[in-house]
Amino acid sequence: MIYRLSDFHFPDTAARLYPDTPHRPWVLEVGFGDGRFWPHYAATFPEAPNYLGVELSGVSLLKAERRLRAAGLTNAVLTKLPATVLVREVVPEGALDAIVVNFPDPWPKAGHTDHRLLRAPFFRLAASRLKPGGAVLLTTDHDEYFEFACAEAEESGVMRVDLTDAPPAALETKYALKWRDLGLGAHHARFTPTAQPQVPHGAVTRYPDEEDSPDVPHAILTLPPDFDPREFGKHTARGGQTRETASERDGTGWTVVLLDLYRSLGKDGWVCLAHVVEGELTQEVLVGVTGRGDGSHLVRLARFGGPIITPGVKAAVGTVTGWLEERGAVVTHRGY
Ligand SMILES: C[S@@+](CC[C@H](N)C(=O)[O-])C[C@H]1O[C@@H](n2cnc3c(N)ncnc32)[C@H](O)[C@@H]1O
Repeated sequence: MIYRLSDFHFPDTAARLYPDTPHRPWVLEVGFGDGRFWPHYAATFPEAPNYLGVELSGVSLLKAERRLRAAGLTNAVLTKLPATVLVREVVPEGALDAIVVNFPDPWPKAGHTDHRLLRAPFFRLAASRLKPGGAVLLTTDHDEYFEFACAEAEESGVMRVDLTDAPPAALETKYALKWRDLGLGAHHARFTPTAQPQVPHGAVTRYPDEEDSPDVPHAILTLPPDFDPREFGKHTARGGQTRETASERDGTGWTVVLLDLYRSLGKDGWVCLAHVVEGELTQEVLVGVTGRGDGSHLVRLARFGGPIITPGVKAAVGTVTGWLEERGAVVTHRGY
């Protein structure tokens, strides 16, 4: 089954994601490509473990979903997200039996290594989300990335590194076959946590189901009589903090870009399209500015597009509100 980010809970549970098989082992595969690994690997268990697959490519997501469905693997959840967002916000602590990474993108150019997944911050995050006895399983053809990942695992201070043979299923993926055809071999390492560090989930919540929930970021304000929405121009705001122990890409800061403002034909008001970037998580959200009938306006995050509520999304509502204040609006209530 394919899940969007907004379909998950933060954090989620195996009982909710796999209601028929909640007690089976739980395996996460990062960058599953066209999905060949899981049918081979699942077949090595008496009962298929619960599967969570995360990929950046939408085409791969659809191919893999078809493959798993054809193999009858129904206790499988696939999603299109950056892996760190899924692991940090969705996977509960101490929940996974394994995190499998087959042939990750090597980012071979100098200066690109902080695009690599298997760096010390990811190993600490992984250690916090694995069960005791769980492991990260890496298979790669890339000598330099393999050494880099092993060094980063040591550097994390929470992983033991064992060099072993790859599980046969990892040698049946599209990339495994591609490299085998070129006569190249594959390295395999098993990274076992030696400690369970605390890596907290972010301040992320679902968009509430109730129509008028006060938990949706909002503000109430009165626009000046001469307010002219045509004064709108693209506008960028930045804030939040960067995590001390991680690179900029893993930071908890946000960037909000207000891209455009659209007039509603059906309602008294406008919607603002905002682009919100927080580390690897990017969301396009709509912030409505709607007349309330008493002369005031409600600025509120719209449900449209399935946003999740993060510090950056709250900041988007704050940025729209701030832009209106700069034009003379008087804010009577802030709920963001
Ligand atoms: C070289 S391919 C390997 C695919 C597959 N594992 C195989 O062995 O055939 C790497 C895959 O990882 C995915 N990927 C890269 N970075 C990712 C990330 N941060 N989160 C999830 N998937 C990622 C890419 O989209 C790509 O499909």
